[in-house]
Order: sequence, then C-alpha cells, then structure tokens
Amino acid sequence: MKALLLCGGEGTRLRPFTYTQPKVLLPLGHQPILFHILDTLADTPIREVAVIIGNNGQPIMDLLAKRNPWGFNFSFILQPEPLGLAHTVIIARETLGDDPFLMYLGDNILDEPLRPLINRFTAEKADALVLLRRVKNPRSFGVAVIDDTRVIRVEEKPDQPQSNLALVGIYLFTPAIHQAVRTLKPSRRGELEITDGIAQLITAGKTVHYHLLSGWWKDTGTVTDLLETNHYLLRKLPPTNEGQVKKSEVSGVLAVQKGSILKNCRVKGPVAIGTGCRITGAEIGPYLSVGDGVKITNCRLSRGLILPGAQISGVNLADSIVGERVQISSRQKNDEPASLLVGADAILKL
Ligand code: DAU
Repeated sequence: MKALLLCGGEGTRLRPFTYTQPKVLLPLGHQPILFHILDTLADTPIREVAVIIGNNGQPIMDLLAKRNPWGFNFSFILQPEPLGLAHTVIIARETLGDDPFLMYLGDNILDEPLRPLINRFTAEKADALVLLRRVKNPRSFGVAVIDDTRVIRVEEKPDQPQSNLALVGIYLFTPAIHQAVRTLKPSRRGELEITDGIAQLITAGKTVHYHLLSGWWKDTGTVTDLLETNHYLLRKLPPTNEGQVKKSEVSGVLAVQKGSILKNCRVKGPVAIGTGCRITGAEIGPYLSVGDGVKITNCRLSRGLILPGAQISGVNLADSIVGERVQISSRQKNDEPASLLVGADAILKL
C-alpha cells in the first residue's frame, strides 16, 4: 500500500502564516504538522509516500530531503493550482499505479493508529474505506449516510446534512477510484471533489465501508483549530531537557531541545521549546510552543505559537501566533494579555 499525502492548496484561511510557508510546515506541539502525520504513517506497512505540493512546496521537499527518520521513499507531484482533492488523485495516477493507497489530507491530525484500519481494509476487500466522525457542524464537512456496514450516500458540505457523520480527511482506496474520478465535473465551489468520486463509486455498485472514529481528530483549517490542536498535542508531550534550564521554577511538562537556554524563568507546562532559543526573565505557559532560534526577554506568554526566529521582549501575550522572525517589543507594563496574530517579519513596537 502507498500513501498519497496532500500538501497543496494555498491555506487561505490561515493567512498571514501561509503567505511564507505551506500549511503543513506550521509547527504544532514540538514539530511541524507534517511530522505528526508522518509519525502516524510510520506505524503502518506504508513505505512509499507520494506528496502533492503546490507552487509553495519547495520547503517541503527541502525539509524531507534533510530529515527522513521514518525511512519513507518520497516522490513529489506538483499541483500548480488547487483544483480539488479528486484532481490530486488524477495527477497521481501514474505514481500510484495499480496499488491500493491511503489518501491523507495534510491538514488532518488524528490520535488513532492507522494500521488496524489498513488490515481491516485489506481483509474485507472493499473498494474503499472511509473514516467518519460525529460532529456538531456537519455543514463544514463532507457528510455520509450509512447502513450497517456500508456508506450509502455522501455529499460535500451540504446545506441540509442528512446525518452528523463527517468524512475525516483520511481515505483508503483500491484502484477503482481512478475510474470514478475520471468523469467528475467541478462542484459548486469549482473543485473536483473526492466526495463526488466516492459517490461515483457507490453509484457504480462498488462497496464503500466505513470506520467510525471515536478518538480525537482535528481538521486544522483555521487559527482557532491550530491553537486547539496545539493544546491537545502539548498535553501529550513527554518531558525532555536537551538544553539548559537555570535558576528557573518549572511546574508541569517542559520539553527543551538542543542549544536552548532558559534563565530566571517561571514555566507552567506544557511548554515546548525548539533548538537554539534564549529565554530570560519570562513567565511562559501553559500551552506554549516556541520554534527554533527564538529570543524571549521579560515576557508573559501563554497558549500560543511563537514561530522560528522571533524576538519578543516586554510583552504579555495569550492565544497568539507570532510569525517567523517577527520582532515585538514593549516598554509598557501590561497586566491584561493581548492576543496577536502577526505574520512573518513584522516589527511591532507596542
Ligand atoms: O478535513 C475533512 C474534510 O476535508 C472532509 O470532510 C471534506 O469532505 C473534504 O472535502 C475536505 O474538506 P476541506 O474543505 O477541509 O478541504 P481543503 O480544501 O481544506 O483541503 C484539504 C487539504 O488538502 C489541505 O491541506 C490542502 C490540500 N489540498 C486541497 C485541494 C483543494 C491539495 O493538496 N490540493 C487541492 O486541490
């Protein structure tokens, strides 16, 4: 079995952070979203991963050329425009060959092993297996109607959902899907929908099985989703200290990577600190992720993401995302935390 991992698209709902990097490279917890997904895939028999990238995808190729602890064979397929999820299946046809494959949308993170699903899919010999999750807002997702064992109807983001079962962005397909996507027409949002491909399979009399997910799952489409996912991943963070923590008070889990120094700090975990950071006189956490090479001086920071290379001094922030290389400084003392979403390279004097 191969994997088709979708890292294309423009991530418009996550601007300004996706102006400077693809969505999958945004760090959550202690590593980029992409690595969380590859950790999940590593625990399956899959070794070949075809990665769909958009025009901004070069950093993905560069990163995976440097770091591949999972030992995957990666191939990259350029999708110059995000013409839809089914479009990615069409352009990956040759790479996927006649093998069954697992399609994974690069903004989905789930906390459930995929190996049992792959085993079930192989044993049952269905034409497709989809993951479903009960949700409160089915209008935001593809929605499925099921009977005892099969999916009998699917619809993409319906105005009047026939169920509260959302399609999770992870699908198992046999090569039957290639035939199904070939004749699709763009949907009302102008995309070739994989949901329509699945509907086509059902119409053609193919079997589409489902697995009802009970565990945690998130489509990290918006800033709120990102922060919530960060909280969830940080709660599972194991404590590590590969750096130096001096004259500091630490409660809860703290993970510090190589070359980082914390001095005179009060840390309330969970907090993840990347490599080469300098953090002095700061109150940090809970639920804070700090990227590589960040400098923090005299700040109070909780519930947020500080992306690589940022330099922050004298500020009180919560529920914030500070972009790469952003510089923020303040001379005023603020008891109430501000909530900022600041894109890369901005310079703010508050
Ligand atoms: O997350 C689950 C939902 O994902 C499903 O319930 C929906 O049925 C399914 O259509 C999809 O909906 P989204 O609106 O969330 O899909 P989105 O356009 O955000 O694309 C998902 C990922 O796939 C995203 O990380 C970018 C990538 N992508 C997307 C498109 C449209 C591509 O690589 N190429 C594309 O052409």
